[in-house]
Amino acid sequence: MRKKEIPVNYFKAEFPSNSVNESFSRGICASFLASLDPTVSDLCDIRTAVSEAVTNSIVHGYGDAYGVVYITGETFSDGRVVIRIKDKGCGIANVKEAMKPLFTTDKSGDRAGMGFAIMKAFSDRLKVTSRPGKGTTVTIIKNVGKNGR
Ligand SMILES: Nc1ncnc2c1ncn2[C@@H]1O[C@H](COP(=O)(O)OP(=O)(O)O)[C@@H](O)[C@H]1O
Ligand SMILES: [Mg+2]
Repeated sequence: MRKKEIPVNYFKAEFPSNSVNESFSRGICASFLASLDPTVSDLCDIRTAVSEAVTNSIVHGYGDAYGVVYITGETFSDGRVVIRIKDKGCGIANVKEAMKPLFTTDKSGDRAGMGFAIMKAFSDRLKVTSRPGKGTTVTIIKNVGKNGR
């Protein structure tokens, strides 16, 4: 079994599923990464990917219900950043299908079904695990440290 790698730095945060917290979540991730001296482009990518994941937890995971969004960030000595966004909302029945570009269950016409495609494009690796009725976890992995460039 592989030994669990110890992060150089990490944070854990949680906030209620209120859309005002979308910008808060982008902000804490950007501040957390500042010590790695990331490029503007890497920072923008991460802010965008985090925003999409958090919006999904709020809009799709919890909908009109009250819930908590959990977010953690870790940095590793090789310059890798791992950000995890978790909700205990409705979950996704078919993750593979949900991740296809243009797929959306939104009926209002406000959403384009491109959230997962954007998260994928802006990270080096994207992992999504979900269980209907239990919730969803999105893991964004990106190399931003000097070794990752
Ligand atoms: N955290 C989540 N909880 C429940 N369902 C989700 C979650 N994230 C995504 N989904 C489902 O995956 C679909 C695709 O998500 P996304 O690509 O972001 O497109 P959009 O948000 O525009 O619908 C959503 O319409 C929704 O059905
Ligand atoms: Mg979305």
